[in-house]
Amino acid sequence: MAKSHWRIGVAGLGTVGGGLVKFLAERPDFAPAGARAEIVGVSARSKDRLRDFDIGGYRWFEDPVALAADPDVDVFVELIGGAEGPAKAAVETALKLGKPVITANKALIATHGAALAVLAEAHDVPLLFEAAVMGGTPAVKMLREAMVGDEVDTVAGILNGTCNYILTEMEARSRTFADVLAEAQRLGYAEADPTTDIGGFDAAHKITILAALAFGCAPNFAAAEIEGVDQIELLDIKLAHDLGYRIRLVASAVRADGGVSVRVHPALAPLGHPLAETRGALNALFIEGRRIGRIFIQGPGAGAGPTAAAVAADIADVMTLARRPVFQAAATTLAPFTGVDAAHRLGKAYIRLLVKDQPGVIAAVSETLAEAGVSIDSFLQKSVEDAGGVPIVLTTHASPESVILEAVERIAALPAVLERPRMLRIARV
Ligand SMILES: NC(=O)c1ccc[n+]([C@@H]2O[C@H](COP(=O)([O-])OP(=O)(O)OC[C@H]3O[C@@H](n4cnc5c(N)ncnc54)[C@H](OP(=O)(O)O)[C@@H]3O)[C@@H](O)[C@H]2O)c1
Repeated sequence: MAKSHWRIGVAGLGTVGGGLVKFLAERPDFAPAGARAEIVGVSARSKDRLRDFDIGGYRWFEDPVALAADPDVDVFVELIGGAEGPAKAAVETALKLGKPVITANKALIATHGAALAVLAEAHDVPLLFEAAVMGGTPAVKMLREAMVGDEVDTVAGILNGTCNYILTEMEARSRTFADVLAEAQRLGYAEADPTTDIGGFDAAHKITILAALAFGCAPNFAAAEIEGVDQIELLDIKLAHDLGYRIRLVASAVRADGGVSVRVHPALAPLGHPLAETRGALNALFIEGRRIGRIFIQGPGAGAGPTAAAVAADIADVMTLARRPVFQAAATTLAPFTGVDAAHRLGKAYIRLLVKDQPGVIAAVSETLAEAGVSIDSFLQKSVEDAGGVPIVLTTHASPESVILEAVERIAALPAVLERPRMLRIARV
C-alpha cells in the first residue's frame, strides 16, 4: 500500500552506507511518489568510529538483525557485505517479516540469490540490488526491466574497476603488476586483501547476477569459470599491443548449446574496440538482444556517490511500489543455469612461448598446431634482452577451446620450449 513516509534502516556505514546517509541528508527533496524517505536506525561494527557524517539523529543498533526486525523499520538496506554472516542473517530476517530489502551485496546475491528470491516472493516484498553490479551504472534495471521484451543472448563486459585500473596503469607506464597493485592498495583503490578483485571473484559474482537476470535462471556462482589478472605480465601487455590488442578482464555470460557459459578471464580486445578503450576504474557492458541488437553502457562501477545513487533508485522503486520478479520469472520456477562444455566453445587464442634459439623450432610449433587442427592467424618473433630464449607469440583462428588447450599442452612438451606457454583468449566482441 502507498505510504507517505518510509522509515529506513541502514546496516553498514562504510563507503556505500556513508554515501547513502549523505545522499538523504543532502536531498530532502527526494520524494518519489510524493512520499518521504527517512533513515530511522543504523548499524555498523563500531558506534564510535570517526565518520565524516553525523549519525547522532538515528537510533543505533549493535546488531543488524535487530535493526532488520525493529517494528519502526519499514525498509531494510544492507550495506555490510559478505555472502554469509550478519548480512545474510539480517536480510533473511527482514524478508521473513515482510519488509522490502535493498542491498549492494553481490557476493550474497550471487551465492544465495535464488533462496532469497523465493523468500522475498513468498512474503510478497521486493529484493533489490542495483548497486551490486556496476555501482551507479544501471545494469540491473536495464536487464530486469528494459530488456524483458527481448531475448538476451550475450552479456559481456568489464565489471571490476580495480583490475581495469591495474591493467591500464601497467600499459600506460610500463609498470609490473605487483608495482601497480601495491600503489593501488596505498591509494585505497584496492583492498588490503586483493584476492576478491584480482582473482576475478568480484567480477564473477556480478556476471552471475547479470546472467540470472538476462536468462531468467537462478544465480549459480558455483558454475562460473574464473581466472583473474594476477598472472598477467607486462610482456603480454606489450606483445598484445604490438598485435593490435589490449588485455582486459572480461566477464561474460553467453547462452549456448542449451546451457549458459558464465566466465571471467583476461582476454585480448582489439584496439579501438569499446572494451579496449575502457580505461582506469571504469566499468563497461555489452548486452545483445535478438530484436534490440547490441547495447553498450559504460560508467563508474564503484564509489560512494554512484553506489548511493543506485541504492536511492531502489528506494524509489520501493516507495513507488514498482514490482518485478527478482530474476525475471517467479523465483520458485527458476532453474540454475548449466555450464557449457569447452569442446563446444569456439574461440581464438594468443599463445606466447619462450623457445631455444635454434633452427626448426618454429616449424615444430606450427606442425603441432596443424596436427591438432588449429590454424595460425598471425605470428610475431621478438628479441627481448635477457629473456633466456626467444619469445614468440602467435594468434590462432577460431577453434574449439578444448582443442586449443590440448595443442598448448603438446607444445609445452616440445624439447625446444623453455617454459610453460602462456595462453590468453581473444575476446569474442
Ligand atoms: N565500495 C563500493 O564502491 C561498492 C560498490 C558496489 C557494491 N559494494 C558493496 O556494498 C557493500 C558495502 O561495501 P562498502 O565498500 O561500503 O564496505 P565498507 O566500506 O567496508 O563498509 C562496511 C560497513 O559494514 C559494517 N560492518 C562490518 N561488519 C559488520 C557487522 N558484523 N555488523 C554490522 N556492521 C558491520 C562496517 O562497520 P564499521 O564502519 O564500524 O567498520 C562498515 O560500516 C558490499 O557488499 C560491497 O560489495 C560496494
